[in-house]
Amino acid sequence: MTKMNDKREAARAAAAYVEEGMVVGLGSGSTVSLMIAEIAGKAKNITVIPASSQTYLECVNAGLTLTTLDRHPQPDIYLDSFDQVDRARNMIKGGGAALMREKVLATASRKRIFAGTYSKVVDRLNRPVPLEVLPFALGYVVSLLREKQASPRLRDSDAKNGPTVTDNGNYILDVDFGEIEEPSVLEAWLRKVPGVLENGLFVGLADRVLIAYGGGFVEEL
Ligand code: 5RP
Repeated sequence: MTKMNDKREAARAAAAYVEEGMVVGLGSGSTVSLMIAEIAGKAKNITVIPASSQTYLECVNAGLTLTTLDRHPQPDIYLDSFDQVDRARNMIKGGGAALMREKVLATASRKRIFAGTYSKVVDRLNRPVPLEVLPFALGYVVSLLREKQASPRLRDSDAKNGPTVTDNGNYILDVDFGEIEEPSVLEAWLRKVPGVLENGLFVGLADRVLIAYGGGFVEEL
């Protein structure tokens, strides 16, 4: 319950950056669900672009007006959370398998606000990094990662047999690289692997990272 309250505080702090008339890109996950509720509560002439089918359905249910990147290629602001963040504001994302569209939307937006709870802050990123992988390339990508001494695991689906299939029809590999010393170097390397369509390392993409420490205390990282 406390954790949920902290998420709500984080979500509220991020939603406070949304102003009248803005086009808002939205990530995915439980913190974003709370952001949607906040935005819907004050929505006046606000238009949203959801990064995932989950966010899309929640925005529809909340009565928000939807648009697309085709109509608004540069949203005014992007709001999202993360799975892990370090003090240099590098993040690991993709716990909800929405990393590819999230990175597109975040990059396209004029301003990017990320918010999460203190439990997600680490000195050095160490969670498995989600990769969105073209199914055709899976075997090749797995063997390349093993050569690099990393441990890839194909993400399973909870509610169906077989692997998680993303909103884009691809697989997710959760890859354990241990402690990540230089996120930007790893990110650049992953970017060059054919068949890895996107990686969950978000480097240099946050204008603000808001952390909820509990008891209503939210501070910028
Ligand atoms: C989805 C993400 C989410 O931002 C991340 O998983 C955090 O989720 P939550 O807000 O539920 O803690 O990257 O792809």
